[in-house]
Amino acid sequence: MKLLILVLQVALVGSLTVSSGFLGDNITLASGAPPSWNLTSIEWSIFSNNTWIATYRGKRKNTERVDRYKGRLSLNIISGDLTIRNLTPEDAMEYTVDLINTQRENKGGKTKLIVKQRLPKPTIETFPCESVKGGGFQLFLLCSSTDKSVDLSWSKTTNATVFNSLNADVASTAVKVFLSTKQNHVKFTCTSSKNSETASSDVTPSCDDNEPEPTPQHHSTHRKNYIAITFFVGLLVGVLVMTVLYFQKGKLCPSPK
Ligand SMILES: *[C@@H]1O[C@H](CO)[C@@H](O)[C@H](O)[C@H]1NC(C)=O
Ligand SMILES: *[C@@H]1O[C@H](CO)[C@@H](O)[C@H](O)[C@H]1NC(C)=O
Ligand SMILES: *[C@@H]1O[C@H](CO)[C@@H](O)[C@H](O)[C@H]1NC(C)=O
Ligand SMILES: *[C@@H]1O[C@H](CO)[C@@H](O)[C@H](O)[C@H]1NC(C)=O
Repeated sequence: MKLLILVLQVALVGSLTVSSGFLGDNITLASGAPPSWNLTSIEWSIFSNNTWIATYRGKRKNTERVDRYKGRLSLNIISGDLTIRNLTPEDAMEYTVDLINTQRENKGGKTKLIVKQRLPKPTIETFPCESVKGGGFQLFLLCSSTDKSVDLSWSKTTNATVFNSLNADVASTAVKVFLSTKQNHVKFTCTSSKNSETASSDVTPSCDDNEPEPTPQHHSTHRKNYIAITFFVGLLVGVLVMTVLYFQKGKLCPSPK
């Protein structure tokens, strides 16, 4: 009895294939038909109620049965394989195939489709250069990712730079970089990795020796103006509210005579 259950379980697991594809890509689900078979009927279905999405019967092919898959399916009537184009997150589910050949033999199979999202590229933020006593510059580079479960690491194209890595938290990592005036074009790469996937971005910071950058000045002036205006508007609203409250209080509870 135990052996029978075990055999049944193995048989069930054996007929389930797992396929995975990336969002927006195309994937082909194999029907598992033996190459010697001449297929007369192919039925691909989804859900427990076996909703047909692609069928081939009586020499007629129909791949436009379900709206969500319209224009995205191709059925190979020789192999029985089903191609789904432009994968969406909703395509991730179990697909069932039922085949019949010219000898009236039949065969079925299930494929579990996993739709993976490509790892997003990390974002690099470059902080302004500060000149260092005795020549050269130092600056911070901050690397972060919208995916909080990745590992982030820094690398650089040359070994000529002082390089301290400071791990701020899991989702971001900063480096303090020292550039001598001669090494103005060092490329820093931040790589995010998860399982066996990687994505990277790079930056080549340049600090100009001759011209101190005027942009940060502008920024801080704008910022000062902005703060002043915010303060002034805040003050005005505050006075207005106080005035209204004062008059309302006067109306509602007249001061005792
Ligand atoms: C998917 O297939 C279509 C049509 O065959 C093709 O134009 C497209 O480039 C393919 N997409 C990818 C990501 O391979
Ligand atoms: C399949 O079809 C081919 C040609 O149509 C034929 O030669 C072959 O014998 C067929 N095989 C079976 C198993 O029916
Ligand atoms: C089959 O099941 C799906 C989801 O459970 C449902 O949306 C669909 O209407 C059902 N189709 C039929 C014919 O009952
Ligand atoms: C960089 O490393 C190479 C060997 O890997 C070495 O020959 C070279 O001198 C190093 N450059 C500096 C500036 O340290």
